[in-house]
Amino acid sequence: MSAIGYAIGTRSSPNTANDFYFWVPPEEESLQVGSIVKVESPGNSAIGVVEEMKSYADVDDFLTHALPRANDPLLVPANKEQSIVVCRARVLKQHRERPIGEGVVRYPTRGELEEVFSVEGCRIPFGVFVNSDGTMLPVRVHEEYVLGYEGAHVNISGMSGLATKTSTFLFLLASIFAHARSRVACVIFNNKSDDLLHIDRASKELTREDLLIYETCGVSPGGFKTRFFAPSNFYGRPQSLRQEAEVFRWGWEEIVNYLPSLLKAATQDQKEKLDNAFYELRRMASLRALASIAEVLEFMRRELLLEQKAPSELIHGTYKATWGKLYNQLRALETKYDGLITGYAEEVVDLPFDSIADREVWVIDIQQLGFYPRKLVFERVIDEFLSRLERRSLKVEKLIIFMDELNKYAPSNASAEVASLKEKLIDIAARGRSIGISLFAAEQFRSKIDQNILGNISTDIYGKTKDAELAEPLYKNLPEQVKGRIRRFSRGEKLLDHELFEAPVFIRVPRPPCMLGSELSRLRAMQKSVA
Ligand SMILES: Nc1ncnc2c1ncn2[C@@H]1O[C@H](COP(=O)(O)OP(=O)(O)O)[C@@H](O)[C@H]1O
Ligand SMILES: [Mg+2]
Repeated sequence: MSAIGYAIGTRSSPNTANDFYFWVPPEEESLQVGSIVKVESPGNSAIGVVEEMKSYADVDDFLTHALPRANDPLLVPANKEQSIVVCRARVLKQHRERPIGEGVVRYPTRGELEEVFSVEGCRIPFGVFVNSDGTMLPVRVHEEYVLGYEGAHVNISGMSGLATKTSTFLFLLASIFAHARSRVACVIFNNKSDDLLHIDRASKELTREDLLIYETCGVSPGGFKTRFFAPSNFYGRPQSLRQEAEVFRWGWEEIVNYLPSLLKAATQDQKEKLDNAFYELRRMASLRALASIAEVLEFMRRELLLEQKAPSELIHGTYKATWGKLYNQLRALETKYDGLITGYAEEVVDLPFDSIADREVWVIDIQQLGFYPRKLVFERVIDEFLSRLERRSLKVEKLIIFMDELNKYAPSNASAEVASLKEKLIDIAARGRSIGISLFAAEQFRSKIDQNILGNISTDIYGKTKDAELAEPLYKNLPEQVKGRIRRFSRGEKLLDHELFEAPVFIRVPRPPCMLGSELSRLRAMQKSVA
């Protein structure tokens, strides 16, 4: 292996146990921020990742440089000044816990790199590292730290379309399905057009480079074994761009626990009254074994909204006027929820939660639902799986839940609208790993996510991100030049930070193994132009 630099600590830039400096000869052109290098010095050796590169010449100011050239940029003076590139590398692994002295810097061999990346127990590739000498190897994470029970949750952030968050998620899922030892399934909510409604088909856009990454990671690209679900419309058809989706439709029993978060009132005081009335109604309905919204409404008309009573009179401890408001909101549910909610028990079709199988993906299409119905679907689906995992009654031990646009549902600011869902997501973030639920989430701005969730994520992936976002305190531990590279990332480049890693690693991820909605549109546009 040829030399690519020489490590030495100077007065102004001493080597430490954490960092070492080295200069690079002018003809060396491969090194870049993110490269991994090795230095051998007497008595110690270290492998480090380049976090900072500086280039400067032996001149004090610009005037001193311009003067001998008579201000002509094309003129080369006889005694041209020396210029040099200096790198700072962060130590990833070293022989002894002390600063290295001086020594020759080379690229590590494949074996040495493998040693750096082989963290005990890490077996699931989340991408490849390509060193600047061309060596490519998989970067693996630990199953127990991704899916539980030691740690959980993966976050993918970055700019829409350019950070390729959804694509990255699908690649990670394929890799998890290929390598995980536990029985694992995944539930995805589709909330953007037909983004995730074709993931059962293989992608036709994979390049040679993509295929090489798949091969290196031991993953075969292709469509997922998928079941598509969508809420029913009034006619019992799926509200979805995927017309053969299986429908679901919920009634009183399915939604009764979520009603308090769906009931609305103008003031806090009125909301409390409405909630109290609802709890009383629920108690009475349960005593009388009422099983549908229609039956509950009928009961309210018969026993609570008595004609001979004035609005200010109490009936079963609640003003008749409040019963009236509750009645109107319950009656409006069917229309407001576009068919997702039905008044009649015989029309109820629940999701077949118990049947989710190993390596199966469920795509629940909520794209055509409004904000509140979406929230209802999220909350109930999460709860149903949570309780089954806790009881260990599923055919799988681990479940991945993918939430796109997490910032909408678990924002860092207090938002009454999403309070109950956010609470649930925070709960999953905190307890999920011990139950086997792992939240995989994506968003444009990581800084807009609630702190309680961020604190529990064990794997972070950063795609191309804008300056203003990188200036947030959240990113303060990333060196400036690492941030610079994130700013300039191409689509397949990511920074991966995993709980068990010494330092974040620059990785490459391929295009998704399966078809995204955007690929299908491109395909259709192409077919049209050919026809
Ligand atoms: N490695 C890659 N190189 C080039 N294009 C890619 C790559 N990965 C994904 N794409 C394409 O980029 C587009 C945006 O990707 P997507 O994953 O939908 O981004 P996001 O979810 O961040 O908005 C898609 O059309 C996808 O096919
Ligand atoms: Mg996306």
